[in-house]
Amino acid sequence: MGDILCIKGGVRLSGTVRAQGAKNAALPIMAATLLLEEGTVLINRVPRLDDVAIMADLLRHLGAKVDHSGELMQINITHDPRLFETPEGLVRKMRASSLVLGPLLARRGKAILPLPGGCSIGSRPIDLHLKGLARMGANLEIRRGAVYATAPGRLRGSRIYLDFPSVGATENLLMAAASAKGETVLENAAREPEITNLAQALTTMGAVIEGAGSGTIHIQGVETLKGGPMTVIPDRIEASTFLIAGAATGGEVTVIDVVPEHMEALLAKLEEAGASLMVKESSVTVRVDRPLTGVTLKTLPYPGFPTDLQPQMMVLLCLAEKTGVIHETVFESRFLHVGELKRMGAQIELQGNTSIVTGVPFLNGAEVHGTDLRACAALAIAGLAAKGTTLLKETHHLWRGYENFVDKMNDLGGKIFISNENDVCSPTATSLRELPSLQ
Ligand code: EPZ
Repeated sequence: MGDILCIKGGVRLSGTVRAQGAKNAALPIMAATLLLEEGTVLINRVPRLDDVAIMADLLRHLGAKVDHSGELMQINITHDPRLFETPEGLVRKMRASSLVLGPLLARRGKAILPLPGGCSIGSRPIDLHLKGLARMGANLEIRRGAVYATAPGRLRGSRIYLDFPSVGATENLLMAAASAKGETVLENAAREPEITNLAQALTTMGAVIEGAGSGTIHIQGVETLKGGPMTVIPDRIEASTFLIAGAATGGEVTVIDVVPEHMEALLAKLEEAGASLMVKESSVTVRVDRPLTGVTLKTLPYPGFPTDLQPQMMVLLCLAEKTGVIHETVFESRFLHVGELKRMGAQIELQGNTSIVTGVPFLNGAEVHGTDLRACAALAIAGLAAKGTTLLKETHHLWRGYENFVDKMNDLGGKIFISNENDVCSPTATSLRELPSLQ
């Protein structure tokens, strides 16, 4: 896929898009299949994303057969205790590779995992994952930047308090506990809907779990787990990205096949900013018919405002009347998109982990660089709302988490084209539809 988007500004997005399956639910559910000795798992509504393809390659490397056609993924596991090492290249490409650690330890008793490096939004340690697994009896050694983990005999259930409600640590420990010996209690666990979806998938496989979605999860370990059918929940972050795009461009956008209660924090903030919402059982419409006003938001673990929507909401605040304030409390450096937005004329003052955003009448198209998945999406929204044309570079981040992002935005009236030339939207820029199939 090309790495430069040419975005024509001045559009008011309007229309309807369907949410993809949740990337951050599909990835742990895929990893959980490693808990099987033998068996087949069918997973529905798996989005076609680069991160999903990387997780599929990782499972294949660990002996699984993975077939992904349309939204349906079939994973056949055959147990091979000799396969327990994750290649550094894959872990470096995708931090969520660390989610195979718990299942490998629980089922194969061994795992070698290169420590995932930091990324543009923070150092991303996995100390809480390792601390919890050690409590369950795993021996963990870090040598030459990799975790060498063994679990002689079976992991044993334990009471584990998480210093921070880490999503990944909760997922790794939930999977490990599903087939450990005895009961595990996870305290101060993450409460994201993706955790609940993983727990549903594990329960389908025979796990005994209570309290997923609350801060305390009880898991009774079982000896063996079996395959079965499961479905990924809608992607609340992708769907919210399109709603914010609709609001930021002063249009009217509907997202369908969503779970509105997973988006409460965002919907409340959009309403507070002056957008009109229509919420139905599985769809949400946002409409803007008056200038939006700045709001204060603080990113927090679920059900607080999601950090994965912070860059996108910053764009909306850049174009709102009055001043907005954003406190980023989840990641230590998730403001790299601020510099890029300022190149477009945004007025943003950074004070540590707080951004003070003063609304301006309009942004100007410019050449900008995406620094991470959600920053890329935010800059694309800024380009659609701006006057003039924006050249967005490093868009490979987008394909990691947004399926058909360009087509979906263009279906809403956007004018986004893949431009491989390093100039301002050469006439040869084409829309995705005209490109030969790239998958
Ligand atoms: C998950 O990452 C998501 N990724 C992230 O989405 C999301 O931003 C994040 O949760 C928070 O909601 C996936 O689910 C694949 P954390 P994760 O562990 O699990 C610190 C996207 O754009 N921490 O909840 O890595 C950590 O440094 C991505 O889709 C430790 O200190 O997030 C961070 O500051 C970006 N030690 C905070 O906790 C640990 O052992 C939250 O991290 C683990 C985490």
